[in-house]
Amino acid sequence: MAGVTGTLTNTALLHSFKQFTLSKLRQLHQHRKLHFHLNFANFSTTQFNSHKTHSANVDNLIVLGIETSCDDTAAAVVRGNGEILSQVVSTQADLLVQYGGVAPKMAEEAHSRAIDWVTQSALDKANLTAKDLSAVAVTIGPGLSLCLRVGVCKGREIARSFQLPIIGVHHMEAHTLVARLTDRNLQFPFMALLISGGHNLLILAHDLGHYIQLGTTIDDAIGEAYDKTAKWLGLDMRRSGGPAIEDLAREGDPDSIRFKVRFFDFLKHFPSHFCTIDAEIPLSLASSLDRRSRADIAASFQRVAVLHLEERCEGAIEWALKMEPSIKYFVVSGGVASNQYVRARLDQIAKNIGLQLVCPPPSLCTDNGVMVAWTGIEHFQMGRFDPPPPADEPEDTVYDLRPRWPLGEEYAEGKSEARSMRKARMHPSLTSLIQGSAKQLL
Ligand code: KG4
Ligand code: ZN
Repeated sequence: MAGVTGTLTNTALLHSFKQFTLSKLRQLHQHRKLHFHLNFANFSTTQFNSHKTHSANVDNLIVLGIETSCDDTAAAVVRGNGEILSQVVSTQADLLVQYGGVAPKMAEEAHSRAIDWVTQSALDKANLTAKDLSAVAVTIGPGLSLCLRVGVCKGREIARSFQLPIIGVHHMEAHTLVARLTDRNLQFPFMALLISGGHNLLILAHDLGHYIQLGTTIDDAIGEAYDKTAKWLGLDMRRSGGPAIEDLAREGDPDSIRFKVRFFDFLKHFPSHFCTIDAEIPLSLASSLDRRSRADIAASFQRVAVLHLEERCEGAIEWALKMEPSIKYFVVSGGVASNQYVRARLDQIAKNIGLQLVCPPPSLCTDNGVMVAWTGIEHFQMGRFDPPPPADEPEDTVYDLRPRWPLGEEYAEGKSEARSMRKARMHPSLTSLIQGSAKQLL
């Protein structure tokens, strides 16, 4: 992997990097063989240390997680044993209302205004200072570059000032792994559906950092479909469109409106395409309808959209079980997984197939710092982290941000031409990077 420059012994490492206070690392890790990454502006995602951290040491880790990939500025402090010491989220509700969605430049400015107090509040609520931290974890992709940069700058600033190791986190892996914090029985391999504002992802999680992508989004993710529908219906977007539709749908009849959903056309590209919904009622007029009619639209939209997910999940789980018959769990996470109707329907699918559904609590399904800190802990204990940024890191350093960064490799049968055409400027997947560096270690 680019930037990995060689293998150093522990002594050589300390000799070469005397200026680092790596005492925290040395307490936590008995390094024997280290892969070192000398371009400090990059996140290596490499197998940095070939030895795992002992479980007693893992329990003592304290990691700050920072998340700014989209429109939530979030930070949290989590202990290695899974104890959440604090959690702070600042949403951009006013901007969502004003623009009806995320406007990158506005979102960046809002992150910049919030990031200092969000991280400081996370430390204060945990009754800690940055000196007490073992490491900093920060989302480096996928997401909006302008927004990712704000979190990465802050994470590196803290890591540099307090000489802390830093872990670059994949946002969708964080949505997945937070389920292992909330359900400590959840072992690999498992199946996961990740549903957010930017992605629908169906993955087989073989192991930490090793994912097979069974299905992904070509156009709108389901969260975006919820947001657009809420906007069309003129609903209050302050908590984003999803919760607004979920609430209104409770008052409506889910069978009252006929939607034409064209997802069956795409089964051969399974399960890549999120449904295109054609309503018989022109949605441009929807916001002027009375509440009862809008509730019927919300309920019918939700039924059809989730039915689409159900179909896709059933097929993908069938594939996954062929590859890994030992799978017992079906994780559903990401913002849309906080929806009670979605959870109930997918719970039924899991039961029918004989799997157990694992859904993190709603506050850990939507974007948060806990999932980032926890993913940092999982990788840290496997030895995957970067050293503290150098004290003299220039202000204009080009950071390693990965706006388009797949989680895993695509399952051959699920590949579609439409998706292959959208590969431009895509970063190699997390799984291929980790597997590449594991080979280098052999
Ligand atoms: O994971 P997330 O917080 O941010 C992204 O990574 O995108 O997901 C945000 C998405 C938004 O589209 C929002 O409308 C949707 O999750 N969402 C919901 C609910 N809560 C949030 N969708 C349906 N029902 C909900 N209760
Ligand atoms: Zn998310």
